Amino acid sequence: MRRLQNLLDKNQKWSASIREQQPDFFEQLSKQQAPKYLWIGCSDSRVPADQITGLMPGELFVHRNVANQVIHTDLNCLSVIQYAVDYLKVEHVIVCGHYGCGGVQEAVLNRKLGLIDNWLRHVQDVRYKHQSTLSKIEDHEALLNHMYELNVVEQAVNVCETTVVQDAWLRGQNLTVHSWIYGLKDGLLRDLGFCAASSETVEENYHQAINAITSAS
Ligand code: CO
Repeated sequence: MRRLQNLLDKNQKWSASIREQQPDFFEQLSKQQAPKYLWIGCSDSRVPADQITGLMPGELFVHRNVANQVIHTDLNCLSVIQYAVDYLKVEHVIVCGHYGCGGVQEAVLNRKLGLIDNWLRHVQDVRYKHQSTLSKIEDHEALLNHMYELNVVEQAVNVCETTVVQDAWLRGQNLTVHSWIYGLKDGLLRDLGFCAASSETVEENYHQAINAITSAS
């Protein structure tokens, strides 16, 4: 098993099955990529972006990190956004979180895990920001559900506030930022309501989405 032969075998079968349907699929795709969507999601192995959206290779540009964070000093995430928006000209950025997110849970529990605690500070910032609402929720499960959802909307706003997206909107580029959440228990995606296609619509959209989340408890 040193060479992970099982995975290499699965890959052989996968490649063959696609070429059976479309013999030149990989040949054509190797020439260029033109995805319409950028996905910013959690690294969680149970939330595979392409599979849950039913998209094929070439259709989804992907960035994943623990708890789907969009941090204004994270060169990795910012570079992905810039390349996707400026060069690939994606039309949609989808920030997708998920219920049962371990990163959000650990941030709420404030346990010491090591280096990752520094990363999860950003999730704790979301909690502090909404402390007045969250402090009224006594049930731990309900509190977590709010946190999974609030975290997504906050990160979607962070995407909107990047210079990359602001500049794209200024020059009239067609670009919409979405906030979605995925259910591990049913395999379904839900739209959390924040959806912005211009600088002017960010704030109103944000308040509507946050109100919808916090009034649903
Ligand atoms: Co997660």
